[in-house]
Amino acid sequence: MLRDLRLRDFRCFESLDLTLRPGLNFFIGANAQGKTSILEAACVLLRLHSPRASSLAESVRFDQVGFGLDGHWDERHLHMKFTHALKAFALDSKPQSRSADYLAVARVVWISNYDLELVRGSGTHRRRYLDFLGAQTVPNYLRHLRAYDRALRSRNALLKEARPRQEIAAFDSSLIDSGSILLQSRTAMCRDLQPLVTASCHRIAGGSESLEIKYQAGVADDFARALEASRAEEDRRRVTVVGPHRDDITICLNGRDASQFASEGQQRSIALALKLAQAGRIEASPGVAPIYLIDDVFGELDSVRRNNLLGALPATAQKLVTVTALDWLEVAGTASSFEVSGGTVRAARV
Ligand SMILES: Nc1ncnc2c1ncn2[C@@H]1O[C@H](COP(=O)(O)OP(=O)(O)OP(=O)(O)O)[C@@H](O)[C@H]1O
Ligand SMILES: [Mg+2]
Repeated sequence: MLRDLRLRDFRCFESLDLTLRPGLNFFIGANAQGKTSILEAACVLLRLHSPRASSLAESVRFDQVGFGLDGHWDERHLHMKFTHALKAFALDSKPQSRSADYLAVARVVWISNYDLELVRGSGTHRRRYLDFLGAQTVPNYLRHLRAYDRALRSRNALLKEARPRQEIAAFDSSLIDSGSILLQSRTAMCRDLQPLVTASCHRIAGGSESLEIKYQAGVADDFARALEASRAEEDRRRVTVVGPHRDDITICLNGRDASQFASEGQQRSIALALKLAQAGRIEASPGVAPIYLIDDVFGELDSVRRNNLLGALPATAQKLVTVTALDWLEVAGTASSFEVSGGTVRAARV
């Protein structure tokens, strides 16, 4: 579990020092008080990645040069700092030059209203969903994802400038090697997610709905051959046109494309089912049990579904949950809560 968390110049917090508890930790407060920022800080500290911003620069407190985060995951001490010029992280006070050991310490499930984009947003959101899972469950996934992105960016820059084929081809082998591993891993992840997606959907929406996901690879079986065959189109469009950066997942509710036909409520249930399935895969793969960071989801559900969702989460897992009110909670049990107001936090009674 995450035992404590310290923020410095992160979003609206100049400095904050929190001691967290096992099980449920509620962060209660009105809008714009800093609740999401606390969960985001926990995710950035544990995964070196913000679930709500594409760049960590957005999380630096206005007019400051950088932020610092630190905390303990069980006995391990994690520290990270970010300035516009540098991202640095240390494990047990030892600076790390690679992220693999640091990222092996803790795992995270992030659930938020933004997950609706999984159903109605662009393919980027669904690829990120697979990448978040792959990074935490597939050895070397992150390394290949980074290598693929690097090769793709370099290749696209050269294609854009219409440089000679020889120069462009220098990036082909790393694109194909890492890309093929991403394709294989994503195929396996979607296959393993399917039964959990079905079960989670039944749990949230009742037995009447059937939910299916289908992996749509952004390239035919043989990536090398497909890349070769796409040369003319590449020259015309000046960009790499095949590869896992074009992958997507089709989501079907009762046999029809959910992005077109699912109602607002059904879309929420589908997004939750996908995230609970992702959590199930993280729980099932060897390694530490994940912490659940759940932002804003409860406000959008009726009280029966809120309590159903709480019941669907592993009882022993540590959960940090943001809410604007807690009057709906049926069984408080050993839950802890914190009131968040104007960038300050104090322990409160549930
Ligand atoms: N980089 C930043 N520096 C300083 N303040 C920021 C920064 N980014 C966001 N804020 C502000 O921090 C405050 C808290 O934001 P946060 O998203 O954590 O609120 P919240 O409590 O989750 O609100 P809601 O209930 O509306 O989701 C907001 O006023 C927001 O405008
Ligand atoms: Mg929020």
